[in-house]
Amino acid sequence: MSFKSILFTTLVLSLTKSVISFSFGEFFHDNVVCLFGECCGRKQIKADFYKLENLLYYNIYGQHLANKIVIAAMKSHWDSPHAQKALTLSFHGWPGSGKNYITRFIKESVYLKGSNSRFVHHFMGRVHFPQEKDVPLYRENLYNWIKGNVSECPYQIFIFDEVDKMPDRVLDVIKPMIDYNENVDKVDYRKCVFIFLSNTGGSIITRETLKLWKEGIKREDIQLKHFEQHISKGVFNEKGGFYHSDTIKSNLIDHYIPFLPMEMEHVRLCIVNLFEMRQIKKPSEEAITEVLDFIEWGPEPERKYSKTGCKRLSQKVALVAHKYRKSNSKEEL
Ligand SMILES: *[C@@H]1O[C@H](CO)[C@@H](O)[C@H](O)[C@H]1NC(C)=O
Repeated sequence: MSFKSILFTTLVLSLTKSVISFSFGEFFHDNVVCLFGECCGRKQIKADFYKLENLLYYNIYGQHLANKIVIAAMKSHWDSPHAQKALTLSFHGWPGSGKNYITRFIKESVYLKGSNSRFVHHFMGRVHFPQEKDVPLYRENLYNWIKGNVSECPYQIFIFDEVDKMPDRVLDVIKPMIDYNENVDKVDYRKCVFIFLSNTGGSIITRETLKLWKEGIKREDIQLKHFEQHISKGVFNEKGGFYHSDTIKSNLIDHYIPFLPMEMEHVRLCIVNLFEMRQIKKPSEEAITEVLDFIEWGPEPERKYSKTGCKRLSQKVALVAHKYRKSNSKEEL
């Protein structure tokens, strides 16, 4: 064989090999790896915001403001090919007003695997960052985790729950990642979403909502501008993770989202929903009232809002449902 023909054969062989291995590799990746693992592509990162709209519409009660802002912010961030920074949302309000619930629906509509997606990171203030003295360690870990994950796939969601219970300065470390940077240490964070949850500002939101109600403004007509003054004064960040923080001072939070306190009518919807989940389609007035009796209302003297929103109602509903099931079966006998 001449040198030329050897060269030619080698070339053809290696070309064929690479064509085969490429398509096989792709097939293997899409159908085997992505089936058992989770891939960084459209198949598993659905970003289905039509689904988000539906989930919020049917499951989040009395939070028209939060629903609207969250949907619009997620849509425009995700659809924009040129996001200039990571999306940062800060949720504020009394417990049980739906902050965690909305977060869950965001996860479920973005990722096929929902909360179990490896692209979702949920940090709890008291669990993950308990000690003031370990702040340097937390900062280092946090930076490396976020960096490591985003290097693998840019579409990640980081949730910081109980921001008000985190030691100061932990969150400062993420500042470059949520700032207007094309990259930080060669990693591009602009596709990420950061969500911060806290009860901070809850009392002010309640006071303001009550005031608007007294002025005769319908709840559905409450707008972000009604809270703007408090937001700009930084009242939503009185203490905790953002306190003294550069993150806040440099305005890196895109949206401060107030969760309004829950009225009787909204708590009632939560209760009916919980009964339905237990296959009780039309709970009796009596059963609903029995669950409502567990709830404390405030502030004095109006007592218009549930102090715990719809939090921990599921156990109460379970209790009442059990009781009614028992008495019903007796009647049947
Ligand atoms: C990704 O984040 C998780 C925490 O949610 C962390 O345990 C893991 O080590 C990170 N992965 C990388 C590659 O850094």
